[in-house]
Amino acid sequence: MNLIVAVDKNWAIGCNNRLLVSIPSDMKFFRETTMGKVVVMGRKTLESFPGGQPLKNRTNIVITSDSDYKVKDAIVVPSIEAAVGELKKYEEEDIFVIGGESIYRQMLPYCKTAYVTKIDHAYDADTFFPNLDEMEDWKLTGVTEEQTYFDLEYVFARYERIERSE
Ligand SMILES: NC(=O)c1ccc[n+]([C@@H]2O[C@H](COP(=O)([O-])OP(=O)(O)OC[C@H]3O[C@@H](n4cnc5c(N)ncnc54)[C@H](OP(=O)(O)O)[C@@H]3O)[C@@H](O)[C@H]2O)c1
Repeated sequence: MNLIVAVDKNWAIGCNNRLLVSIPSDMKFFRETTMGKVVVMGRKTLESFPGGQPLKNRTNIVITSDSDYKVKDAIVVPSIEAAVGELKKYEEEDIFVIGGESIYRQMLPYCKTAYVTKIDHAYDADTFFPNLDEMEDWKLTGVTEEQTYFDLEYVFARYERIERSE
């Protein structure tokens, strides 16, 4: 299972239920990476999308504790365990956890690869991703050259969970 996230220099990811910044090539990377795949998200992240609508051309799985929650063109599940059960129907490499903070934290143990856009700026924020640079079982395995969008600098990084042999 994969996850995909954009973080600032403090691993912040959002503020007031919105992204911190929208970088066109990062949006393109997100779209191309998840297209045709399965995306897993929390109810708040779904509601942060335009019109609160699921992402097109992807299988959308939304986690909420609200048993009456209905959304067209999405599979709604009541817990992390139910999400993990539902995800057994799909190939592991086709699954992308797409946020927000609560879902990243709870789904991180199930993920093997993290696609992290690292933006070299500190924003005001209220939601964060765990700092993978400080986690022993995650390793940076690839990073692009520095990219720029106006005065913002960012890189596309890839982290992988280290397999431990007992
Ligand atoms: N930078 C990025 O790449 C990125 C990506 C995605 C999101 N974000 C940002 O992240 C922020 C949202 O993060 P968030 O943590 O506040 O919200 P979230 O994770 O998107 O959604 C939280 C909601 O998910 C449901 N949920 C979570 N754990 C659950 C569980 N174990 N069982 C049942 N339901 C569960 C609950 O819905 P109910 O309250 O309905 O029960 C909860 O309120 C926004 O600012 C968004 O823009 C950033």
